[in-house]
Amino acid sequence: MDRIDKLIVNNAIWAKKMRESDPDFFSRLANQQKPRYLWIGCSDSRVPANQITGLPPGEVFVHRNVANVVQESDFNVLAVIQYAVDVLKVTDIIVCGHYGCGGVQAALENFRHGIIDNWLAPIRTLTRVHKSELYSLEDNQRLDRLCELNVLSQARHVARTTIVEDAWERGQLLAIHSWIYRLDQGILNPLRKPIEQATDVELI
Ligand code: CO
Repeated sequence: MDRIDKLIVNNAIWAKKMRESDPDFFSRLANQQKPRYLWIGCSDSRVPANQITGLPPGEVFVHRNVANVVQESDFNVLAVIQYAVDVLKVTDIIVCGHYGCGGVQAALENFRHGIIDNWLAPIRTLTRVHKSELYSLEDNQRLDRLCELNVLSQARHVARTTIVEDAWERGQLLAIHSWIYRLDQGILNPLRKPIEQATDVELI
């Protein structure tokens, strides 16, 4: 079967199975989405938000980019966060990185990859800030540690957006989680306690 046709066939089978187990599933979803979670993760094909968290369509609002970067000047991620927080009123934002991230690896390397080097600038800054810790480690541990530091840093960026600060100011319930996914085990692990208020940002 053609490599593209097979996706359409897969979809027809999936939709049929969903309708059989829950006849109203699609009509319910078509009326509204009310996800509780916003997922900010890496574009890596091995880290699909719904599948690894066991969530069906409608349960998680998703934003993914290379190396799960959250830059305060990125309108894409800001628009996603604002819609999720102000309109959908999600209660949890999960920033999820993964060990062995190619984007984080590229930020560690001292040669040009292209446009991506600009995108990864915040991670390259992190490597400079944590230079002594990172370079006391073996190569593979260095990458893993930088993957963790990146998640922690990007979650702090989320917490410092005006969107999240204003939500907390209004008394809106909103927790930011810093998670990392281990590709070779399929396991998610939190790296710190959730950030639930502005004063939590610097606490680990
Ligand atoms: Co990645």
